[in-house]
Amino acid sequence: MLVMGIETSCDETGVGLVRDGVLLGDALASSMDEHARFGGVVPEIAARAHLEALPSMVRHAVDRAGVQLSDVEAVAVTAGPGLASAVQVGLAAGKAFSLALGIPLYGVHHLAGHAAVDVLEHGPLPDRCVALIVSGGHTSLLVLRDLARDPIVHLGDTYDDAAGEAFDKVARLLGLPYPGGPAIDRVARDGDPAAIAFPRPLTGARDEPYAFSFSGLKTAVARWVERHPGPLPVADVAASFQEAVADTLSRKAVAACRAHGCGTLLLVGGVAANSRVRALTAQRCAAAGIALRVPSPRLCTDNGAMIAAVGDLVARAGLPPSPLDLAMQPTVTL
Ligand code: KG4
Ligand code: ZN
Repeated sequence: MLVMGIETSCDETGVGLVRDGVLLGDALASSMDEHARFGGVVPEIAARAHLEALPSMVRHAVDRAGVQLSDVEAVAVTAGPGLASAVQVGLAAGKAFSLALGIPLYGVHHLAGHAAVDVLEHGPLPDRCVALIVSGGHTSLLVLRDLARDPIVHLGDTYDDAAGEAFDKVARLLGLPYPGGPAIDRVARDGDPAAIAFPRPLTGARDEPYAFSFSGLKTAVARWVERHPGPLPVADVAASFQEAVADTLSRKAVAACRAHGCGTLLLVGGVAANSRVRALTAQRCAAAGIALRVPSPRLCTDNGAMIAAVGDLVARAGLPPSPLDLAMQPTVTL
């Protein structure tokens, strides 16, 4: 079945075409530059940008896949979580395609998309694995089973900021552009990750093993910056902060695999694009005999292929489509 996926939950307008676990073509537009001067995504600007970009993204994705729009047999769309006005645009488009082409509609959970996209590059997931989903809005450790059905056991989440949010806020403190993750990743290459010993939140023996908290780490960076007048060693601060995040995330993820007898770790979401998070997690997984699955950086951040990947799994599992009056779920949890 040829599935078209539509993603509009934040500032990326993504369309992807997937057939039987194979990504045929995709297209992505971003309104990121329009939000940069506000230091974060402005929902109404994002929604308007989705409306403008969607028709051409659909056209590009269809062309790249070498198919016709009339060949599409199902449409999958992010129903939540995300910015309400942004989600609404994609959902309306998905319903319109469903109605006009007479094809089933599948409402997709955005985070399931982050996990499912890995299938497109690395084949079916094992029956059970630990997933660490690290994005701008979420930091969650889960045990995943069947992604198409009711798949998830929660191990822990963040109490405050998501890992990506911490990257964005620390970047701002350092005078780096939005989005902060890629900017910190870039400047940290010239820094010393051991220059400053920033805290590794909730990694003590008595702390909750799978819970996260990044707001204290962000504050620690802010205090350090305040106490150091004069030229800021931006590369060293960025590298040391990045190291603290990578250390915390990878340590907890490997511990979760061990404790739950899972031989596979799935590392996904925008922060999984981070070079140090990938490298340190790979190193620790190798030492622990755990197979690490992590999508290519371009598929870690929001895109349409990830939503098509879920639609493809759900359709192949023979599950019923969503009703045409499907409501958006901006604050849905896993
Ligand atoms: O998954 P995503 O594209 O959108 C959400 O669902 O939130 O994640 C966006 C987040 C942003 O906070 C961004 O700064 C972060 O992922 N990010 C990164 C990198 N690329 C994107 N964080 C660290 N290093 C990166 N290379
Ligand atoms: Zn996302």
